[in-house]
Amino acid sequence: MKKKKKLKKNLKIITSVLIIIVGILGITKPLWTKKENKNILYSEEVITTMKEQNIYDEIMKQDYSQTVEKMIEENKYKSEYLKEYIKINLQEREDFANLVNLFLNKNYNAEEINNIFEYLNDTNQKKLTEMDYIDLKEYFKISNMEVDKIDRYETYQKEKKVSVNDAVTKVNIGLDLEFYSEIETIKDPDSYTTLLNKYRGLPENYVPEDLTSLSINKNYKLRKEAAEAYENLQSAALLDNVKFYPFSAYRTKAYQNNLYTNYAKRDGTSAADTYSARPRHSEHELGLAVDIRSDGLSDNLTDEHYTWMLNNSYKYGFIVRYAKGSTPITGYIEEPWHLRFLGVDVATDVHEKGITFDEYYDLYLKENHK
Ligand code: DAL
Ligand code: ZN
Repeated sequence: MKKKKKLKKNLKIITSVLIIIVGILGITKPLWTKKENKNILYSEEVITTMKEQNIYDEIMKQDYSQTVEKMIEENKYKSEYLKEYIKINLQEREDFANLVNLFLNKNYNAEEINNIFEYLNDTNQKKLTEMDYIDLKEYFKISNMEVDKIDRYETYQKEKKVSVNDAVTKVNIGLDLEFYSEIETIKDPDSYTTLLNKYRGLPENYVPEDLTSLSINKNYKLRKEAAEAYENLQSAALLDNVKFYPFSAYRTKAYQNNLYTNYAKRDGTSAADTYSARPRHSEHELGLAVDIRSDGLSDNLTDEHYTWMLNNSYKYGFIVRYAKGSTPITGYIEEPWHLRFLGVDVATDVHEKGITFDEYYDLYLKENHK
């Protein structure tokens, strides 16, 4: 009697186990059949090649991959890279198979290679294919990163021990190079938001077309919109009892040249470079910069007026271009008196972000100026 009961119990267990096994098989069946179907996606020609090269079995163990198919078609397939191939997205380009092996050979993984393909273009391809492996993950998160400058970022970051983000912006500005050693001629000198600095110069014969005399002193000119904005700024300041006057505005190239040359003769070029722009590099030549001084002072602003300017000038479209603390980026001494017109929107944004215009331009404007 007891034995019968035990047998019944065992039968029950065995039946349950069988039901579970059948159930699992039933659920997973579509998965493994699908896998087999997927492999039928390979062309007959490719399957023949796989069989000839004895790679059929290893490939059939994996999901179908367009990249694997391409590698076989191009006769570039390498078994040791199979696991990575299947994760690499196929790209429509002639050198795809070659590049895939080249980057795998440098130890980039599939994810990194997919990222690289997103960024790869005619300009940066040479650099990326020639340089050794670099951990690009951080770089690909940075919006102003330029792939062709990656080796410069790496060097700068190591030398200066700064963050990757900081290295990218500073190298983009040019700060890893000697001042004036590599000069880009700007293409948009008429834009209110163009950037001039020790790496970016005006076209040789540029003269702004809409220069207008300031009503307060006809000797000083700015471009029309900047002149009007300046007058509004000055009136607004007066209401707060902040009195200042312009002492320099638009300068011709010849004038800037004369100024700089005289300073350089007097103090030497390195010293002159810290407080005067070389001709073609001054915002005064854009007709968008004005130097102001407080009532009764020469060449300067009182601290109080400087603070007022920092907190208010953006409302009229101006920023203090060489504000306190900006020297490491601009290469100029602090010039609380030098205002740059950018228009209200950009001036406000620069003010809110609290960074130099050089950094702002690289982070937010350069793409629109290309
Ligand atoms: N002093 C400024 C930098 C200029 O010469 O434009
Ligand atoms: Zn100035």
